[in-house]
Amino acid sequence: MMEKMASLCKRRGFVYPSSEIYGGMQAIYDYGHYGTLLKNNIRDAWWKAMVQLRDDVVGLDSAIFMHPTTWVASGHVGGFNDPQVDCKKCKSRFRADHILEEFGINADKAPLDELNGHLDKLREEKKLKCANCGSTDLTEAKVFSLMVKSNIGSPTDELKEENVVYLRPETCGGIYLEYKNTVDSLHKKLPFGIAQVGKAFRNEIVARQFIFRTREFEQMEMQYFLYPDMMKEKYEDWKVARWSWYLEYGIKTDQIHWYKHEKLAHYASEAYDIEYNFKTLGGFKEIEGIHARGDWDLSQHSKFSGVDLSYFDQEKNEKFVPHIMETSVGLGRLVFMFLDQAYTEEAVGEETRVVLKLDKRLAPVKVAILPLSKKEELTSPAKEIWNTLKESFMCEYDETQSIGKRYRRQDEIGTPYCVTVDFETLNDQAVTVRDRDTMVQERIKIVELSKYLRDFLG
Ligand code: GAP
Repeated sequence: MMEKMASLCKRRGFVYPSSEIYGGMQAIYDYGHYGTLLKNNIRDAWWKAMVQLRDDVVGLDSAIFMHPTTWVASGHVGGFNDPQVDCKKCKSRFRADHILEEFGINADKAPLDELNGHLDKLREEKKLKCANCGSTDLTEAKVFSLMVKSNIGSPTDELKEENVVYLRPETCGGIYLEYKNTVDSLHKKLPFGIAQVGKAFRNEIVARQFIFRTREFEQMEMQYFLYPDMMKEKYEDWKVARWSWYLEYGIKTDQIHWYKHEKLAHYASEAYDIEYNFKTLGGFKEIEGIHARGDWDLSQHSKFSGVDLSYFDQEKNEKFVPHIMETSVGLGRLVFMFLDQAYTEEAVGEETRVVLKLDKRLAPVKVAILPLSKKEELTSPAKEIWNTLKESFMCEYDETQSIGKRYRRQDEIGTPYCVTVDFETLNDQAVTVRDRDTMVQERIKIVELSKYLRDFLG
């Protein structure tokens, strides 16, 4: 499945390995035309639910580079690590907890000595092998920092501790630093949230997971600032809101579940993940985290910056540091989930039809306009239809190859409707509209086409 998915993504312009002509960069990908359209539609669907439809959440777009103390205060510089195991023969790198997961051992966030204890046992039992080359010559687990460094703004070329600036490992850091400006400029009262979408960078130790875990990725995060005694109620509300969002966009209830974290960060009181059952990855994997973080973030940034980030409740005449709960999801991971869910193979006669049954609102292209032949008498009215429809929908005009091949191509990119202009169109001023999922074809008058499509596409 993974090979099929990666191949479709490349062949049809969704996702390409980055810098491929130079041999590529591990765990970094580029999004092609259809991938970008799909990603933007998912982002917009998230933004609509999280900001547009709410009166208690506002938006932000903070910079990727932030003052380096941000990440000391947040604990990332000292403690944002993963346990790494290297193969001494082929130099592949693995996460120790992921190796153990393959043997059914849950070692998420386990300390190094516990991880090495499990690894030693597997070594003794001769079960520990490199997943890439099969060698048994693997190192002990050691700590590896996930922080990505840069020398932006530095007066020297050298990357020293005192001039290091980090690329943010999560977008929420920017939200905490802009909490005060948001309150001061927008006069927000608790409870309220700040949402943002943006790039994050982590030096992940990865092994063949396509766009599931990448070193450069986009996060969509919302930090909800509240009174401490509201946490329980709001946490449940947001769990319901986020769960419903997945169902609204076509994810089936039996394909997602909640995973409750038992080992919590010292400041957290609750942490749940929504996991999705990937066909491609062979099981349930984390998609989104919902975390109750207490007053840790604002207290830490207050302490390290010396700026008072407490909130003054005028009615109660009381000052306190707001507590925070967050929802956090990777945009690339959602792209992968929706592609995984949509990918369908169907027998049509002797052939296999590959079709992406994406929610119509997320589909990269909504309507393809296909003249049956390249003759001007058909291309001219087809282009006229394209010119009208493209004002309302993302459309594609295609006159190449046979109509059968063009239908297959649109199926593979998940286009909900194909509009075919044929010789009959010249007599009846009507076109054939083909539905992606049912393949049923309907004859629709050109004058009624916009309304017909709007009824289905919204
Ligand atoms: N602010 C909290 C935070 O960043 P996280 O569990 O580390 O929490 C949240 O990340 C979400 O971000 C994950 O559930 C996942 O969807 C996404 N994510 C994290 N690391 C990623 C990576 N390397 N590649 C793609 N997505 C990633």
